[in-house]
Formats: sequence, structure tokens, C-alpha cells
Amino acid sequence: MSTLHNVSILENMVTSIIIVDQQLNICYNNPAAEQLLKLSTKRMVGSHLTSVYHHLSSSKQLFEQSFKTEQGFTDNLATLICLDLRSVTVDLCVSPLLQEQPFLLLEIRQVDQQQRISAEMQQMTQQQLAKDLVKGLAHEIKNPLGGLRGAAQLLHRQLSDDSKEYTQMIMEQADRLNNLVERLLGPNKHHQHSKHNIHQVLEKIVQLVSFELPAGIHIERDYDPSIPDISIDPEQIQQALLNIIQNAIQALAKQGEIKIITRVANQLTINGKRHRLAIEIKILDNGPGIPDELRQTLFYPMVTGRAEGTGLGLSIAQTLIQQHQGRVDFISRPGYTEFNVTIPVNHEKEM
Ligand SMILES: Nc1ncnc2c1ncn2[C@@H]1O[C@H](COP(=O)(O)OP(=O)(O)O)[C@@H](O)[C@H]1O
Ligand SMILES: [Mg+2]
Repeated sequence: MSTLHNVSILENMVTSIIIVDQQLNICYNNPAAEQLLKLSTKRMVGSHLTSVYHHLSSSKQLFEQSFKTEQGFTDNLATLICLDLRSVTVDLCVSPLLQEQPFLLLEIRQVDQQQRISAEMQQMTQQQLAKDLVKGLAHEIKNPLGGLRGAAQLLHRQLSDDSKEYTQMIMEQADRLNNLVERLLGPNKHHQHSKHNIHQVLEKIVQLVSFELPAGIHIERDYDPSIPDISIDPEQIQQALLNIIQNAIQALAKQGEIKIITRVANQLTINGKRHRLAIEIKILDNGPGIPDELRQTLFYPMVTGRAEGTGLGLSIAQTLIQQHQGRVDFISRPGYTEFNVTIPVNHEKEM
């Protein structure tokens, strides 16, 4: 290794590397960057970063911000217009280098434009379809739900006190569902984000599912007590996690273990955005695992492995989690399924 020079490694990389100082003046670039920008190193070194291209979709402020916060960022599918007006799509990854004097390391990778765009377009069309479908269904649910709520209320008045618990539950849940339906219907409605403890949300879910939990299924909790409160709409997150936990219960049939784990995570990139602090909620079960044929499209609406399923649970869960700038993914094999929900602690409201 001793004969290998750091610089010679950089010189041979296919990824374009540019290093800038705090004034955003270029201190170094590798040959790949020369190739990409069609400018010589002689022309670039010493020049201001913004003078070596015509336009970059990641703003100058983002770079300046990186120096201030000492945090990097990634910008996937950024548009770079070179000085010769060629437009290229790049994945940009920026990390601070903390030496005696701070620098930023820019890694710029040109992506196969056609492929990425068509994949993106396809995903967008599918997501739009999914959203329309969810809205359509929400509409269908709304009216009968009103009837159900009214009937439960009438029944509630006639029941003796010790049976009222059940009608109370129906009404509460109908109200919650109605709230959700309203949100799924209403375009760009603001939801109520405020600081909440995730364990309270989880305990509420455990309480809800315990009413019909088969005796052979055990729910174990492994909570991180140091977890910070997070900015969420608690009803939406309750709905999202409930959908995942209900799937686990259904997958187990009558027998098995579910484990709910919470953890703090640092420095995560979610959908290209770096977050300093996030929480992770893992829902594990030792059931049969997710059927192979569902894996690719698991989060799409109408994808279900159950005869009586709607295939909406995970699609709704994903939408709600994404509205919190979070992400949900899974690992699954027979005997072990893990859903992993990550939500940044602080995030701007979306929509
Ligand atoms: N923990 C799990 N273990 C095994 N399969 C699962 C699990 N979670 C989800 N699935 C599969 O994913 C499918 C889709 O789930 P979902 O979107 O909630 O719709 P639904 O529950 O109505 O089928 C389920 O039908 C099931 O086949
Ligand atoms: Mg479900």
C-alpha cells in the first residue's frame, strides 16, 4: 500500500472529484472532472466553483450550508449544465473534509440519463395511479363509515354500562378512520405535526391489537428509553405502524413472536436528504416471510397475498411515512421478517 498515493487513486477514478475551499474556490480536481466539464485542470484550479459550469440544480447555498453545519448532502439526479451548454444528469455527493482548514469534497457521477429518467417516469406514473386509487377508495369508505359511526352511537345509548366499552371502541376507531379518510381525500391538507413520544404511539397500537390478539402470539418490546420526541402527526404514524403490525399478526396465523424495537439513528440519508438525527422503529416477526412474487411491488396498492386482503395497508403506510420524510423498507426470509421505519426527528412539513 505504501507505494499507492492518495492522489494517484483520485487521478484514476471514473467519478469526478472536485475539492473546494470555504470561498468555494477549486483547490483540486481529477481528470474525470476535466472530462465531465470539458475544462482543463489549469482552467479550474483557483477558479470559483460556480464559474466552471453554467448551471447546477443544487444551489450555492447548499454548499455554504455544508460548511456551516459540517454536514454533507447528496443530490441524486441533479442537473448540471456545462459551459458548452451540454446538460448532464449527475448524482452529487458532498462531504466536508475537516482539516486544519475546512474543505468540501464533491463527488459527481454522471448517471445513465435515459435509463434513470424512464425509471423515474415509470415510478411517478405508478405512484400517481396509486394515489388516485387510494383517493377513490377513501371516497367509497367515507359514506358507509358515517353510517357505521351513527349506528354504533345509537347502540351505545341502549347498552348497559359494562358493554359500552365495545361501542366506545367502535366509535373511536370510526372517528380515527374518518380522520384518515379525510386526509387521504383532501388535497394538500396540512396535518398537525407536533412533538410526540413514539413509545406512546406504539403502546396505543399494542393496546388496540390486544383486543383480538390470538393467545399464541406474543408481542415483545425493546424500547430505547433515550429516544427523543419526534415531530409527527401521531394519528398518521399510528395508522402506518398499525398496518405493519396487523400484517405481522396476520402472517403469524395463531402462533409466534412479534418484536417492536426502537432506536436512535445518526446521520442518515433518506431520499437523498441527509438528516442528523432519526428514529428507527423495527417490527419483527418469525412468521413465514413475504411471498417472493410480492416483493418487488409490495408497497403498491392492491398487492395482497391474502384472500380477504385489500393490499392497501402498506401502500397507505408508505404514503404516510413519506409525508414525514421518512422511509419504510423490509427484509424477509422464511422465519424472519423485519419492517424498518425510519423517521427524521426534525423535518419540515411537507404539503
Ligand atoms: N410481516 C409479514 N409477513 C409476511 N407477509 C407479509 C407481512 N407483511 C405483509 N405481508 C404480505 O404483504 C401483503 C400486503 O400487505 P398490505 O399492503 O397490508 O395488504 P393486505 O394486508 O390487505 O393484504 C399481505 O397480504 C402479505 O401477503
Ligand atoms: Mg394489511
